[in-house]
Amino acid sequence: MTDDVLVVHGGTPLEGRIRVRGAKNLVSKAMVAALLGDSPSRLFDVPKIRDVEVVRGLLGLHGVKVTDGDEDGELVFDPANVESASTDQINVHAGSSRIPILFCGPLLHRLGHAFIPDLGGCHIGPRPIDFHLQALREFGATVDKTPEGLHLSAPNGLHGTKFALPYPSVGATEQVLLTAVMAEGVTELRNAAVEPEIIDLICVLQKMGAIIKVHTDRVIEIQGVPKLHGYTHRPIPDRIEAASWAAAALATRGHVEVLGAQQADMMTFLNIFRSVGGEYEVTDSRPPRLGDPGQEGGIRFWHPGGELKSVALETDVHPGFMTDWQQPLVVALTQARGLSIVHETVYEQRLGYTEALNSMGANIQVYRDCLGGTPCRFGRRNFKHSAVIAGPSKLHAADLVIPDLRAGFSHLIAALAAEGTSRVYGVDLINRGYEDFEAKLADLGAHVERP
Ligand code: EPZ
Repeated sequence: MTDDVLVVHGGTPLEGRIRVRGAKNLVSKAMVAALLGDSPSRLFDVPKIRDVEVVRGLLGLHGVKVTDGDEDGELVFDPANVESASTDQINVHAGSSRIPILFCGPLLHRLGHAFIPDLGGCHIGPRPIDFHLQALREFGATVDKTPEGLHLSAPNGLHGTKFALPYPSVGATEQVLLTAVMAEGVTELRNAAVEPEIIDLICVLQKMGAIIKVHTDRVIEIQGVPKLHGYTHRPIPDRIEAASWAAAALATRGHVEVLGAQQADMMTFLNIFRSVGGEYEVTDSRPPRLGDPGQEGGIRFWHPGGELKSVALETDVHPGFMTDWQQPLVVALTQARGLSIVHETVYEQRLGYTEALNSMGANIQVYRDCLGGTPCRFGRRNFKHSAVIAGPSKLHAADLVIPDLRAGFSHLIAALAAEGTSRVYGVDLINRGYEDFEAKLADLGAHVERP
């Protein structure tokens, strides 16, 4: 643990330009989709993050040859020799990521059976997989839960089904997509999640030969096909990372240009950012032409000076305010005048990180009540899932231990915004989802060092 610490000398505004690559929450799923093809796939702009390494390792164990392509960030997947892996080999990846659960459908199609290790991912509540298993059973899979993990088989093949999710879960929607595309017959999924990363996964699957219709009102219809081929895809940029740097610019009274950030996927965030008093400017991409090298688009975010304003926001499924945007932005809200309110409706336990902010001088109270009108599953179940942030508060340095990925980035922002020298322990966790974050901090003029 002592090696895994970053010393942050706070109080300097972040200034400069960084670039975001393909969205973590699409890239890892597109990698799994490559298993379904009968020819190689190419994925561009893949960030060098831990989640990608985990999926790469699991694909390798199942016989998918993964190589680096010619372009920086390009990966090539050759699924010609898909094979079973031993439970011992797979268990090496136990607890490291949530993505293994998405191997179920593709492995059942390719091998007729699947073993899924104990899942990991961020500790932000119980994170059950009941919707996934219910969906897989609807397709005809049998699921055997054992102490070492899940054993699945499909003795009679997988068949299309009509199914409604109890909640528009991102992962369960992806599970259904990755299973239905090659199941026999038609699948109709109601109450599906429609996050931009899911639409991009649908684009990947369509490129592979799938037939998928996205209807209004969260209904997705999938016509199963007997075979799929490889894809070539450039993913949507990471809108969570982009918003994290935007929040860091605001909290440190800085100015950060995020190349690659896309307005369309971030509209809800941009509205809140402006309501708080932050400013931004969108630059569109321009393709290269004769005599013109072109321009990579992005969004510049900055603190215009003066005081920030308090806001009320509720996290929600798309097109609502993403739950992953909440933690970084709350650090900036500690600097806003008045009372800001955050009602977290996606995860029941995603406000624990506020204790660390309070230890730095923030004034944040968390409540079990629903402080907002969005229908929520947590109010009656006694979870502390609403926060009231009173500001502005002067933040001072502290020793912090990172609890999970997004909360970890918020701790980092708080340390950068605070006066004095903080020690942030467990920072390697941030590499799960933020590529080269230390190099990017250096590019933005942050004073950070490994002791
Ligand atoms: C994805 O997680 C993302 N992870 C999360 O990002 C993100 O916060 C989340 O979607 C919401 O946008 C990846 O894409 C790898 P869910 P996922 O299924 O798919 C409940 C990050 O930091 N639920 O939409 O696991 C669940 O408990 C991560 O990048 C069930 O009850 O999220 C939660 O309350 C963190 N049963 C809600 O649904 C189930 O079987 C939404 O979860 C599945 C989910």
